[in-house]
Amino acid sequence: MSSQNFDVYSLIDKKKKGLKLSDPEIKWFIQNYTDNHIADYQMSAMLMAMFLKGMDGKETASLTDAMLESGEQLSFPGKNVVDKHSTGGVGDKASFILAPIASAAGVKVPMIAGRGLGHTGGTVDKIEAIKGFNINLDLKVFEEKLKTEGLVLIGQTPEIAPADRLIYALRDVTATIDNIPLITASIMSKKLAEGANAMVFDIKTGTGAFMTKTKDARALAKSLIQTAKRFKKKSIALITDMNQPLGNAVGHTHEIIESIETLKGNGPKDLTDLSLTLAAHMIHIGGVEKTFAKALTKANLMLSSGKALEEFRRLIRSQGGDERVIDDYTLMPQAKVATQVLAPRRGSIKMFDNRLIGLLLIDLGGGRKSKTDQIDHAVGFIFHKKIGDTIKKDEPIFTIYHHSHQQEAVTRIKTKFLKEGLTMTSQKVRPSKLIIETIK
Ligand code: URA
Repeated sequence: MSSQNFDVYSLIDKKKKGLKLSDPEIKWFIQNYTDNHIADYQMSAMLMAMFLKGMDGKETASLTDAMLESGEQLSFPGKNVVDKHSTGGVGDKASFILAPIASAAGVKVPMIAGRGLGHTGGTVDKIEAIKGFNINLDLKVFEEKLKTEGLVLIGQTPEIAPADRLIYALRDVTATIDNIPLITASIMSKKLAEGANAMVFDIKTGTGAFMTKTKDARALAKSLIQTAKRFKKKSIALITDMNQPLGNAVGHTHEIIESIETLKGNGPKDLTDLSLTLAAHMIHIGGVEKTFAKALTKANLMLSSGKALEEFRRLIRSQGGDERVIDDYTLMPQAKVATQVLAPRRGSIKMFDNRLIGLLLIDLGGGRKSKTDQIDHAVGFIFHKKIGDTIKKDEPIFTIYHHSHQQEAVTRIKTKFLKEGLTMTSQKVRPSKLIIETIK
C-alpha cells in the first residue's frame, strides 16, 4: 500500500467536482480497492465521477499504471511477440482466425481475453463452447506454452491486472463502459502485463460498438497508441465497422463453427478480410515480414494452405479441448429449433441496431444479465442479409437457433428486432465500409 494516506470520500468528492486527481491519489485508490479496503459502492461512485467529469492524459496514464502495477507483469524476449485487442462487438470472432494465421506465420501470440461485456460477446466465453478447453491456465504454464506452442489463449487471471478484473465487472453493471480513459486503462493494463512487445488494436465503431461515433473511436485509438508509445511498444490501430454483426453468426457455438469454416476457407467475406488484414499487421509489426504487402501475402498463404486451421487444432489440443470439433460440429452445444425472422416488406437494409442484436442474444440466454449468470452456448442467430442488401417481403433476415421451451422469448426477440433493430428503405443503400481508418 502507498505510504501516503488519503480519504476515500474526499477523493470521490474531488472527482465529482471535476477536479484532477494526482498520480498518488489515483494509485492509492486503485491499490486500496484491489486490496479490498474500498467497497464496491465507493469504487462505483468513483467510476461514475471519472466517467461524467472525464480524465485528462495524465490521469489516464496514472490509472493505467496503477492497474498495470496491481498485478504481475510478464515479459517475453523478441519483437515477434504480438497480440491483437478488439474493443468488442457483436459476432466478433476474428481472434480465432487471425491468431492461428499469425502464429502459423511465425508470430508468438499471448492472448489474454475477456468475457462478454455489456451487449458484446467475449472471446473466452466463445472458446468455452469447445468442451474441455481450459482458459484458466496458471501463468507459469501460460509462459511456457507461449515458448513451446507460440499461441496461447487464456482468460483474465488473478495475477494479471487484478484491478481491471474487479473494475471491469463493476463497469459492466454500472453503465460506465463507454469511456475513453477507462477503456484505455482497462485494455492497456492487461496488454502491457501479458508481455506482448507489439499490439494491433481493432477499434470498433457503429451501433454495436462502445464507441458508436467514428470520432470517439479515433480518439480511443490515439489514446491506446499513445499509451503503447509511452511503454516503447509498437502498435497500430484499425477503426472498423460494427454497425452489423461481423460475419453472419452471433452466439457462442455458432461463432466457433463460423471461425472454423473461415479457417477452412469458407468464411464470410467481411470476417475473412478483417482477420487477414489484422493478422497481416501482426506479422508486419512483429518483424516477421518487412512490408505489410508481404505480410498480407503470407497471411493469405497460411489460410489457403490449411496451416492456420492446423494451428487452431493444435491450440485446442494444447489447452485440453476436444479437437474433434474441427470436423464434427455436433460435439458443441446445439439448439435444435430454428425460427426465421422475415422481412416485413420489400426494400434495402439501411441499418441494424447492432447493440440491440447483442442484447437480444442475451435475452435468449446467450449472454449474462448479471455477473453470476451461466451462458447458454447453444443458442444464437445466423444472419442472411447485410447492410446494402435488397430483400423481398417474407425473405429471411436471420434465423434464431433456440430450444423448444423458448417460444415466448423468440416471439419477443422477433417483435423487438422488427420494431427497433432494423431500418429499411426503398432506396439503394451502399454497403458499409469494413475498415474505416488505419492509425499509427
Ligand atoms: N475491452 C476491455 O478490455 N476493456 C474495456 O474497458 C472495454 C473493452
